[in-house]
Amino acid sequence: MTETTQVRKGLAGVVADTTAISKVNPETNSLLYRGYPVQELAARCSLEEVAHLLWHGELPTAAELAALQELERANRGLEEDVRAVVDLVPVTAHPMDVLRTAVSLIGAQDPAAADPSPEAAHARSVRLLGRIPAVVAYDQRRRRGQEPVPARDDLGYAENFLHMTFGEVPDPVVVDAFRVSLVLYAEHSFNASTFTARVITSTMSDMYSAVVGAVGALKGPLHGGANEAVMHVLDEIGDASRAEAWLDRALAERRKIMGFGHRVYKHGDSRVPTMKAALDTLVAHYGRPDLAELYDRLEAAMVARKGIEPNLDYPSGPAYHLMGFDTATFTPIFVAARVTGWTAHIMEQAGDNALIRPLSAYDGPAERHLPDGPDEA
Ligand code: ACO
Repeated sequence: MTETTQVRKGLAGVVADTTAISKVNPETNSLLYRGYPVQELAARCSLEEVAHLLWHGELPTAAELAALQELERANRGLEEDVRAVVDLVPVTAHPMDVLRTAVSLIGAQDPAAADPSPEAAHARSVRLLGRIPAVVAYDQRRRRGQEPVPARDDLGYAENFLHMTFGEVPDPVVVDAFRVSLVLYAEHSFNASTFTARVITSTMSDMYSAVVGAVGALKGPLHGGANEAVMHVLDEIGDASRAEAWLDRALAERRKIMGFGHRVYKHGDSRVPTMKAALDTLVAHYGRPDLAELYDRLEAAMVARKGIEPNLDYPSGPAYHLMGFDTATFTPIFVAARVTGWTAHIMEQAGDNALIRPLSAYDGPAERHLPDGPDEA
């Protein structure tokens, strides 16, 4: 094949554009948000601070953080009509379908959805950030037959999310592990869902359409859906003593082992040690050494057999399980964090736009004609 027709399946190794939002370095296993190592941000920052960093390039001053918090808290409510639409989605549908539907309606209800100013784009980002946890919490509760819990505007993002889901603010150990997971999930350069959002934005479509598309891309088990799939794997194995035999059978059947492998990192995901430490605190808090043993044995067996390391979804799945979330709610939590990165990329793409439109190498039939020959017209 010539240079122009060389196909990069899955766009592997293709540098599609520049970005100033985050840098993934697979050689050093590092991830920087606007220059800051994600581990430092996870140790010290709230998701609101990280959102400001991703959107504006700098961590907020005290006044900027207070302004963002006020705006985000003002956006936490769920209008009656959004609830009514969520209620129309059957509980047999996946919570990511609920979220996709709700984001679409939230966008259609925004009279400034098409306003191209940076201020309006920022307002849309906060509007989504505030409302998404409300949808996720409302949906999990309705599936459990529980009444909705109103947001509290005296709580930070992570605490309020847990409060709306469970009707109480859990132990600080749990809140902190949840906060850490949100910071780690917030941003990861040109992953599939972010790239989807950038493709949609590149057509000069609106932010809500881009986020609806990103939710759809994140749902798949090769991307965000893996945190849910990890929990199904751990449930299927059931006990640490069965980990190796289960893995051997799954690999013999050529199954992809959920929560392992990464397109960019080939020597381990930079975010895993931080999330594993958070999982360890939860295991101690809830007294679940059995789950930790199963986790460790499956990881050791996978590394021994395939040399493939876990990704962030591997520790976050069981962490959300211990916190009490329904397994199907795990990927919507990912959305509630990643919407900060998506919207940052949408704003960056819109600010320096070029239509994203790659080429394809045709390998279908050679030119041919209908039986009566070429159409004269
Ligand atoms: N289980 C078993 N084998 C695997 C796995 C896995 N999880 N990941 C990679 N491999 C194997 C492949 O079978 C392939 O082997 P082969 O060359 O013998 O055919 C080789 O490693 C290369 O894998 P690819 O799938 O070609 O690598 P790619 O970069 O396309 O895939 C992906 C990356 C999709 C993440 C893959 O590792 C995977 O499917 N993992 C499981 C799903 C998952 O955990 N996704 C979450 C990603 S991270 C995130 O979204 C936060």
